[in-house]
Amino acid sequence: MNIKLSKKNINELDADIFLAFVSEKDLKAHEQGKLLTQAGFKGEQDTLCFLHEQGLLVCGVESETKDELRSAASVAIKALKASNYKSVKVLCESTTLISALVEGFVLGGYEYTKYKSQPKKAALKKISISCGEADFASLEAAFDAAIIVANATNFTRDIVNEIPEDLNPPSFAKLAKELAKTNNLGCEILGEKELDAQNMHSMLAVGRASRHESQLIHLSYKPKNAKKIISLVGKGLTYDSGGLSLKAATSMVTMKMDKAGGCAVLGMMKVASELKLDIEIHVFIGAVENMIGGDAYKPDDVLVSRSGTTIEVRNTDAEGRLVLADVLDYAQEKVKADYLFDFATLTGACMVALGQYTTGIMGHSSALKHTIFESANNSGELVGSLPFNQHLKKLLKSEIADISNTSSKPYGGAITAGLFLDKFIKEENKEKWLHFDIAGSAYTETPWDCNGYGATGAAVRMISDFLKNIK
Ligand code: BES
Ligand code: ZN
Ligand code: ZN
Repeated sequence: MNIKLSKKNINELDADIFLAFVSEKDLKAHEQGKLLTQAGFKGEQDTLCFLHEQGLLVCGVESETKDELRSAASVAIKALKASNYKSVKVLCESTTLISALVEGFVLGGYEYTKYKSQPKKAALKKISISCGEADFASLEAAFDAAIIVANATNFTRDIVNEIPEDLNPPSFAKLAKELAKTNNLGCEILGEKELDAQNMHSMLAVGRASRHESQLIHLSYKPKNAKKIISLVGKGLTYDSGGLSLKAATSMVTMKMDKAGGCAVLGMMKVASELKLDIEIHVFIGAVENMIGGDAYKPDDVLVSRSGTTIEVRNTDAEGRLVLADVLDYAQEKVKADYLFDFATLTGACMVALGQYTTGIMGHSSALKHTIFESANNSGELVGSLPFNQHLKKLLKSEIADISNTSSKPYGGAITAGLFLDKFIKEENKEKWLHFDIAGSAYTETPWDCNGYGATGAAVRMISDFLKNIK
């Protein structure tokens, strides 16, 4: 899809159809208000009305806010892709709204067709946005940035949606290497021999029964005169069968998305390098497959992690934290960062706590969490804070090792998982660290907002906003 910003007046732009966003209060004054009302259009959010003879498509918006425009643009693009119109034009004169409009079009129009033998081809090829009376240059900067962020979100969606047969730890590493090459990034890959030399026995245990070799991926972006350094760590479980604590058949379906944290940090890296941000960024991904077999790690095992902390395995399905324990320890030793964030589809409990749409954030710094709330608001993502406390922490006590990989009580599972990770955060990094549980927000089987079936690219937009605003 070709999407362009134009200096031309909307009336001078050539297109098959004109798309307009109309609210209830603007309907009366609209040129076609009478006809639209006759057709039953009331200006309600996300409702559509085609006036084919007038060459007009209107989409209802409750008010002119980013979230409403993003959602409406997403509904409109789906309808246009199902029609036979080849080109559409739309007016946008606001630098704040243009990013939401672009996101609605690019994210709402996303389809994953890799495994369809005969994918449907939309007639729609071109979207032209007229900047009207507004200053073209300032609109253009916001437009260009929004395109980069939206495309990177779809890049993340594409790799999360790939099946585990195609995207396994070695092919994940290959893909990261390719991104490093195109975007001029540093790239270091550790295979099992190197992981063993690093004493990463917690991560290695998880991947032992897989026929694919576990990989630690480290990408780096080092601009001259970087203002700050940030490490982004991702859980990259290319498949989570649960291991010997095997998942039930229905819960196993969709577990190709357990690599969404790893895919999201790659998307963030793509944004930072393409926007040429003056922030040094390090991405660390633990790419592992959790399988069953004679060589599988077991409940009752005790693992010696890279940090020396011993871990009693009581459930092999709580594997993400075992991988992250070692990757977080490695990342902290490798890079002295100003911020340390990890992203993981870590717990079903996070969905119970916050619902399917909201990312859970955990950490010790209220100020940092507050900044993230702002970035979430700016980008249209949903986040909720889950608070740590001493009582939940005690539930991770093990009788035979330093810590257990599961809590002894069934409540507060997202927080106890966060507290498990906290055990591997060095004292000097406590205030710099945030944990993002994207178990609910990373993937959906029922479309919502600008997300269709499958991966959503959760956290890419939000962290892109955070990175852009680092002072
Ligand atoms: N990958 C899952 C978490 C998950 C569940 C993500 C559903 C997305 C949707 C994780 O590895 C897991 O299985 N966690 C367990 C932890 C439990 C055994 C303590 C869970 O949430 O049930
Ligand atoms: Zn699991
Ligand atoms: Zn998992």
